[in-house]
Amino acid sequence: MKRLSPRLKEAAALVRKVDTIADVGTDHAYLPIYLIEHGVCRRVIASDLRTGPLENARANVEAAGLSERIELRLSDGLTNYRPNEAQDIVIAGMGGILIAEILDKAEWLRHGDRHLVLQPMTHAEVLRAYLMANGYRILRESVCEDGGNLYCFLSCAHTDKPQKYDAFYEYYGELPNSSDRLAGVYLRRLKDRCLREAAAVGDSDRPRADRLRRIAQKLESL
Ligand SMILES: C[S@@+](CC[C@H](N)C(=O)[O-])C[C@H]1O[C@@H](n2cnc3c(N)ncnc32)[C@H](O)[C@@H]1O
Repeated sequence: MKRLSPRLKEAAALVRKVDTIADVGTDHAYLPIYLIEHGVCRRVIASDLRTGPLENARANVEAAGLSERIELRLSDGLTNYRPNEAQDIVIAGMGGILIAEILDKAEWLRHGDRHLVLQPMTHAEVLRAYLMANGYRILRESVCEDGGNLYCFLSCAHTDKPQKYDAFYEYYGELPNSSDRLAGVYLRRLKDRCLREAAAVGDSDRPRADRLRRIAQKLESL
């Protein structure tokens, strides 16, 4: 079995020890194979939107001798899942906007003891804003380094308790509460990106440039 990347190892470290885990957008099924081989869960539902990745996944799962434990399923997001099929759900390696759309189409996620592990490649702020507006609580966030890039992970659950958020929370979430050194590096890079974008926007869109500078100030203050 191919060694799991640091990014997918982080995903594996964040799920709970439960009966069934869903890996949405599994592609090669490396994560499900690792989860079963390391005794994290009894069963994984590994789904993907496209048949090509699922065929790759099938070859890897069969080579690992895990066809009985890993169910491969064609599914657009969680639309082809039944409620209660999995306790923990991983959605990694997709854009934050797509992850938010996937969550939005699965109303059943809002009931019961579900735990989500989300790893947006882009637009983490859009995903956090979605979570904030839809009763999800970000329990913790972590950052991992893989191939010179930093990746942010959000562990979330739905809650009926209303939450209060500071300004621009969608840009930093729970990262300031992380003791992880990389969380600070991630936030500094984000601040620098906001400042660069503000400079590029300049006078062509003053309100947007001002907002980006305010976000950078907030990130600096954390
Ligand atoms: C970049 S790969 C990420 C694979 C793996 N999750 C990881 O983090 O390494 C993205 C995968 O998500 C799948 N995908 C894209 N949109 C999807 C959707 N709406 N529902 C399920 N899978 C989707 C793609 O087919 C692709 O296999």
